[in-house]
Amino acid sequence: MILPIVAYGDQVLKKKAVDIDKDYPELEALINNMFDTMYEANGVGLAAPQIGKSIRLFIIDASPFEDKEPDLKDFVQVFINPIIVEESGEEWSFNEGCLSIPSVREDVMRKPKVLLRYYDENFEYYEEEFEGLAARVIQHEYDHIEGKLFTDRLSSFKRTLLKGKLNDISKGNVEVDYKMKFPKK
Ligand code: NI
Repeated sequence: MILPIVAYGDQVLKKKAVDIDKDYPELEALINNMFDTMYEANGVGLAAPQIGKSIRLFIIDASPFEDKEPDLKDFVQVFINPIIVEESGEEWSFNEGCLSIPSVREDVMRKPKVLLRYYDENFEYYEEEFEGLAARVIQHEYDHIEGKLFTDRLSSFKRTLLKGKLNDISKGNVEVDYKMKFPKK
């Protein structure tokens, strides 16, 4: 089932999300719905707050980045209750977008390596290191469950330039070809 994606300006995107346990109601259906929703919108990642649920869960399918990093061909994963233990390396720039902020793309600086503790959809525990674009997508989605957006990582100058556009998005004044929920519409 395809769910509406919450747009910029909604308070749920600013909230720090909470951990869940394996008894979370209809978790499997929720994860399936999140994959349907992400694929419908041609995204490479989707975090639960983006469908209105303030819980620490995100999904990733980075296979569209296969041309840039062949290893990502099969990078399809569910992350539950993740914790970034450490980020390391020299910050690098990558042009990011977000399904909650359609039509906005900006270069964002982040570190290239991330050590992550998380559970998968079967509540198996992992501690794993990711790098490059895998790390990048994880950091972007992780920000969502911390109540942060990539626009929060831009310079105040860039944020000022984007202000009108972001306000338009929150009102639904934006061209988008997937289902969204706009807070000020
Ligand atoms: Ni996003």
